[in-house]
Amino acid sequence: MLLLLGLCLALLLCAGSQEEERSWSDTSEQVGLRVPRQLRLLQRLKTKPLMTEFSVKSTIISRYAFTTVSCRMLNRASEDQEVEFQMQIPAAAFITNFTMLIGDQVYQGEIIGREKKNGDRVKEKRNQTTENNGEKGTEMFRASLVIPSKDKAVLLLSYEELLQRRLGKYEHIVSVRPQQLVGRLTVDVSILEKSGIASLEVLPLHNSRQKGSGRGEDDSGPPPSTVINQNETFAKVIFKPSVVQQAKIAQNGILGDFIIRYDVNREQSIGDIQVLDGYFVHYFAPKGLPPLPKNVVFVLDSSASMVGTKLRQ
Ligand SMILES: *[C@@H]1O[C@H](CO)[C@@H](O)[C@H](O)[C@H]1NC(C)=O
Ligand SMILES: *[C@@H]1O[C@H](CO)[C@@H](O)[C@H](O)[C@H]1NC(C)=O
Ligand SMILES: *[C@@H]1O[C@H](CO)[C@@H](O)[C@H](O)[C@H]1NC(C)=O
Repeated sequence: MLLLLGLCLALLLCAGSQEEERSWSDTSEQVGLRVPRQLRLLQRLKTKPLMTEFSVKSTIISRYAFTTVSCRMLNRASEDQEVEFQMQIPAAAFITNFTMLIGDQVYQGEIIGREKKNGDRVKEKRNQTTENNGEKGTEMFRASLVIPSKDKAVLLLSYEELLQRRLGKYEHIVSVRPQQLVGRLTVDVSILEKSGIASLEVLPLHNSRQKGSGRGEDDSGPPPSTVINQNETFAKVIFKPSVVQQAKIAQNGILGDFIIRYDVNREQSIGDIQVLDGYFVHYFAPKGLPPLPKNVVFVLDSSASMVGTKLRQ
């Protein structure tokens, strides 16, 4: 689904490759190493709208993830300011709601089918991203808005995604790239799987281009401040880094992908069937089947473009 918004706002959904490195906050380059300085600098540079809250809440029920991103911004400058909100969402996800509250005005996004808007072009771009990023295809959601002087804006973006099982795991990825340090930053994921959660792990923050990503002491575990609570069928993961913890990971607010991987129990070989509103889902992934024989075909390109070292190799 693609979303269009008229009114005074320009809204683009385009399949950008991961352009998050292009920091639009001038503060990132000038910041010293220590946090108090950073904060003082931020106070002085208060012309840039300040993000006071960035919170992502996901609820996964039977491998189906509902996610809402809510972002609060404050323009403390004495003139109106334009800001761009951007969020990377999984390419397989579809947007179900986008709402902006600017001052006391509510702007409700209109959702239209993806193919209605330059279907071909969008599809083409989509392929490219998926190819460029391998299995981690993402799309960039962007919205630009004008926040009146001394006023606030709240952006709410909801999307849904059916998680795919790959290499024996379901993976839920949340992009945490608010582009600045945020006073209240939370990622809150609840997972409910009736057949039972077999294994659950939170990976270190992942940034495809390593720039700005943390090289902390323990690079293998969950990022700092992560709390995991789980029992047989329910898990709650909360990532809530303080400003200091965020600054240790990345000064520019580009923390990376927060990744949760888990699998469910599959005791019965016939799989798991769910019925709801006249629809059913059959999860079927039998274990212990003999591997199928495979034919492997190697194709060697010996055309002119391969001449020289490539061909010798
Ligand atoms: C979209 O979200 C807004 C704010 O949460 C809510 O008021 C509105 O009803 C939602 N719209 C739809 C179509 O769900
Ligand atoms: C994109 O993928 C679709 C479906 O797999 C395919 O039909 C189309 O040709 C692809 N486009 C490009 C530019 O690769
Ligand atoms: C797991 O925890 C959730 C929330 O705390 C609770 O509702 C549920 O009953 C618990 N389930 C089991 C099997 O303990």
